[in-house]
Amino acid sequence: MEGIATIILAAGKGTRMKSELVKVLHPILGLPLLSYPIELSLSGIKAEKTIVVVGHQADRIQERFKDLKIDFALQKEQLGTGHAVLQAILFLHEFSGTVLILCGDVPLVKVETLRSFIDTYKENESTLSVLTAVVEEPFGYGRILRNSEGWLEKIVEEKDASEEERMIREINTGIFCVKAPFLMEGLKEIGKENAQGEYYLTDLVEIAKKKGLRCSAHIVADPVEVMGINTRVDLAMANEVLRQEKLKELMLAGVTIVDPKTTYVDRAVEVGKDTLLYPNCHLQGKTKIGERCIIEPNSKILDSILGNDIIIRANSVITESKIEEGAIIGPFAHLRPLSEIKTKAKIGNFVEVKKSVIGKGSKANHLAYIGDSFLGEDVNIGAGTIFCNYDGFEKHQTIIGNRVFVGSNVELVAPVKVGNDSSIGAGTTVTKDVPEGALAISRVKQKNIKKWNKRVKLQRKKSIKKKDL
Ligand code: UD1
Ligand code: MG
Repeated sequence: MEGIATIILAAGKGTRMKSELVKVLHPILGLPLLSYPIELSLSGIKAEKTIVVVGHQADRIQERFKDLKIDFALQKEQLGTGHAVLQAILFLHEFSGTVLILCGDVPLVKVETLRSFIDTYKENESTLSVLTAVVEEPFGYGRILRNSEGWLEKIVEEKDASEEERMIREINTGIFCVKAPFLMEGLKEIGKENAQGEYYLTDLVEIAKKKGLRCSAHIVADPVEVMGINTRVDLAMANEVLRQEKLKELMLAGVTIVDPKTTYVDRAVEVGKDTLLYPNCHLQGKTKIGERCIIEPNSKILDSILGNDIIIRANSVITESKIEEGAIIGPFAHLRPLSEIKTKAKIGNFVEVKKSVIGKGSKANHLAYIGDSFLGEDVNIGAGTIFCNYDGFEKHQTIIGNRVFVGSNVELVAPVKVGNDSSIGAGTTVTKDVPEGALAISRVKQKNIKKWNKRVKLQRKKSIKKKDL
């Protein structure tokens, strides 16, 4: 949108969260609260400038959002919302358009709502406009006072309001549109002669009126959108609203969700069409899932990329991994960071993979640990195989060529290389490189002792007799 700059207020601590972590960094659907208004400004409204006012844990907040095109204004002491905005206008000295003021702890506002708010503010030719909501319980909010023609007259805070004013159910959401030149002038005139001894941003209304400038108030259609997060109860409620929105968006885009009540998909996750999500799966972080995949119950997938036609069987945990099309993972598989499972490979139950490439068509179907390794194509890893990658000091690599057959219960002591087309006999401990096409076997030769059972019986009889004595 043309001529818009956004100021987002986020200097407060959020005392009622009862947390070591500043309120705006608490996550909703995998993203910190503050990222919602920032996203609205950057990609929704496409503001020319986005300025975030920070105070409590400013360093942590700046670090979290350092890659974005936003400015941070520091408010060392939280002296009120008017004082907070004053810190940000230093970044706007050559700006003469509209300033949109948002709150860092109001995550549910939709971009369409903001657009229609800005449009009516422009149509009205107001100097200042506030987004309001009509609510059942206005306690704690600033109340909206309108004149007989419906124009905004004043915003009065709960603590400064008369009995009569407290009856008003139209409240200030904390979201404003203000003409920049007036904002810069008006902010300097705000005093702190009020019940809280704070610089109230809301005093701008009276300042504008005194100058004969027009102020308006725009009612939001759905008050849920402007809900502010103050406690962890609010956090859970907002999370639920956004979770259902995300699931609906996915379903309308062609993803089957068997039970939306128990499916958890983070905001930034992408899922391709005709993919099927079974109950209690958790798709988190920056995960991307292709088309026609099946994600069975109780799977957790974090920051991973899955191609098309993949099956994740029940109870699998996948973190920072890449899986190519047609692969089958689980049930009960664990892919740890930097695992790469190539096309049509299979990782079965109780197999753990870490920092390894599993080549095209290769299989580790049961009970194995594969770490710090590279496996070629069509490799078979037998049950009970362990890649011994750690010598107590450092990690070492295992490299396995194409079409290698690794029998059950093999230990590969890294660093070690196994050539193409070779085989490793069950129970072998591989400590030396295996040449191409060879069989590696390191077993004690089997010995069969005949009639052992008779010796055992005799031994038993003797011991029973001893006891009887
Ligand atoms: C404010 C409004 C009130 C409105 C309510 C909506 C004023 C005076 N009151 O009240 O009319 O109904 O929001 O939720 O504006 N902040 C700073 N620095 C400060 C103070 C606040 O950055 O010095 C930030 C907070 O982090 C928060 C936002 O501004 O994101 C609102 O502050 P808060 O203290 O919650 O204001 P309220 O008293 O709730
Ligand atoms: Mg508040």
